[in-house]
Amino acid sequence: MSKIIDALNTQINKEYYSAYLYLSMSAYFSSVGLPGFASWMRIQAKEEMTHAAKLYDYVLARGGKVVLKAVAEPPASWKKPLDVMKAGLEHEKKVTKCFNDMTDLAVKEKDHAAQIFLSWFVSEQVQEEQSFGDIVNALTLINGEGQGVLMLDRELGARTFTDETQTAAG
Ligand code: FEO
Repeated sequence: MSKIIDALNTQINKEYYSAYLYLSMSAYFSSVGLPGFASWMRIQAKEEMTHAAKLYDYVLARGGKVVLKAVAEPPASWKKPLDVMKAGLEHEKKVTKCFNDMTDLAVKEKDHAAQIFLSWFVSEQVQEEQSFGDIVNALTLINGEGQGVLMLDRELGARTFTDETQTAAG
């Protein structure tokens, strides 16, 4: 199997892990009475599944073999909402590094199609880090407590799901 296909299969697994991690975070938020945060995370998990599907479809389109590996168990508890969002941001930074590394590999292998394909994810990661970062900043400003958390919860609860992999740019 080519190195790129191998790396893409590893990334499919990481996207499913991301979905699992965010579902676990969603369950945490539900358990502490923050339905808006829970809903936001549930949508985030759904988005990760679309990322996995986009990679899966590309592997098949290139005549590669899709290899699904075991998904690791995510953490299940956090001390406070700010810790959850910080962990999410750190996770997204790791995912960004994966796509940057894969792009480096595609350049090295002179795989132009893979470079163009991966550029969608490189751009998407800017948004992913920004959305987690914005919530980390908001929670930090309100010290992660009080009325501000409930207001933020209402705001996050308004998020709706859109499959960005199906838009023109996707
Ligand atoms: Fe699949 Fe959160 O990036």
